[in-house]
Amino acid sequence: MKVLVVGSGGREHAICWKLKQSSKVTELFCAPGNAGIAQTAQCVDVKATDVDGMVKWAKENAMDFVVVAPDDPLALGMVDALEEAGIPAFGPRKNAAVIEASKAFSKELMKKYHIPTARYETFTELDQALAYIEERGAPIVVKADGLALGKGVVVAATVDEAKRAAREMMADKKFGESGSTVVIEECMTGPEVTVLAFADGERVRTMPASQDHKRAYDGNQGPNTGGMGAISPPPQYTPDVAARCMDEIFLPTIRALKAEGRPFQGVIYFGLMLTPGGPRVVEYNARFGDPECQAVLSLLDSDLMDIFTACREGTLDRADIRWKDQAACCLVLASGGYPLDYQKGYPISGLEEAGKSAVVFHAGTKLGKQGEFLTNGGRVLGVTALGDTLEQAIANAYAAAKPISFTGMHFRTDIGRAF
Ligand code: AMP
Ligand code: GLY
Repeated sequence: MKVLVVGSGGREHAICWKLKQSSKVTELFCAPGNAGIAQTAQCVDVKATDVDGMVKWAKENAMDFVVVAPDDPLALGMVDALEEAGIPAFGPRKNAAVIEASKAFSKELMKKYHIPTARYETFTELDQALAYIEERGAPIVVKADGLALGKGVVVAATVDEAKRAAREMMADKKFGESGSTVVIEECMTGPEVTVLAFADGERVRTMPASQDHKRAYDGNQGPNTGGMGAISPPPQYTPDVAARCMDEIFLPTIRALKAEGRPFQGVIYFGLMLTPGGPRVVEYNARFGDPECQAVLSLLDSDLMDIFTACREGTLDRADIRWKDQAACCLVLASGGYPLDYQKGYPISGLEEAGKSAVVFHAGTKLGKQGEFLTNGGRVLGVTALGDTLEQAIANAYAAAKPISFTGMHFRTDIGRAF
């Protein structure tokens, strides 16, 4: 099969790396990809959000299957457009991807189907939002409705901070139209875990749970990022918690989407908080998380192409999905200053050495004139290692990352130990 993966980050590198191991995949392409992905797949110069351009390229080059990995093209309906052009595509259609693209939609869905989540109200008028914040008090959480690169959420410790966030989103349009509607919700407490699951419209099959580290600095301090590292599986996600999540959250969500005429095929991301009152949904995403994907797919023992096909064909119950009985850790190496301003274009050394004991997924790299790897993004690399225990996986990832360096390189030293 000729397979195209849409996207350009560490997640897409991990998907390409795993698809490359499939005997079904004879030719692999990635649009637009990055310098690391180019070692596994042929990179194609089409932007991930260019729906028409992607359909045209996939048609002209006779792709047998397209995997749409990032949120933006899913929200734009890239899967719908590809399928309508006769090209089989993996990922939810636009009407199901809305569980990520609109927080107001996902919160209403949870309310209607009694899926546990934080209590909330939705606002389109700033005055009413401010009055509600005043009434509820702090701590309180203010969220822009739409996609905002993971930065449209403010967990406010004080009423003033919450009001400022609402003003910035609704009046100053900090996130453009994404903030015209805001969701204001109760602040939950407890460890956070991610559960990714394959879904075929009817069924879900969960992957091993994982845990992202969203804050930039050690001890969960500093600004929110796309994710500074991930482990799988986190110790807090016990079999009892898993069984409860399946009954109270995963199955009800898939059934709710089907009942609403929005069957979900693809990877569904359950962002959960294990509160004292039980597991509750923090957010849904319509795709693999990044960097959770890098850790979790490293544990997959089966053929990813077969699983993607089963999701699309509605035969997930029969798919062969086996996982290594090990743990994984993905350590993100980022540019100094990320997630705020940072410089790009620095040479990266030590990649070959690191690659001997871990898989180094590239998130933001490009090739220099002499064929050397240069930094080209906020998150640059995801050094991913396995171990027989979580401790061992973490130690292996840090040891493997040791030889890697570039100007300004920043990483957290407490991945897997911060909770
Ligand atoms: P989200 O983009 O919805 O995942 O939010 C980003 C982060 O904000 C989450 O990973 C949580 O750490 C935090 N957060 C979001 N909603 C809540 C909530 N209701 N209570 C406490 N923390 C939250
Ligand atoms: N790692 C969080 C996300 O991909 O949304």
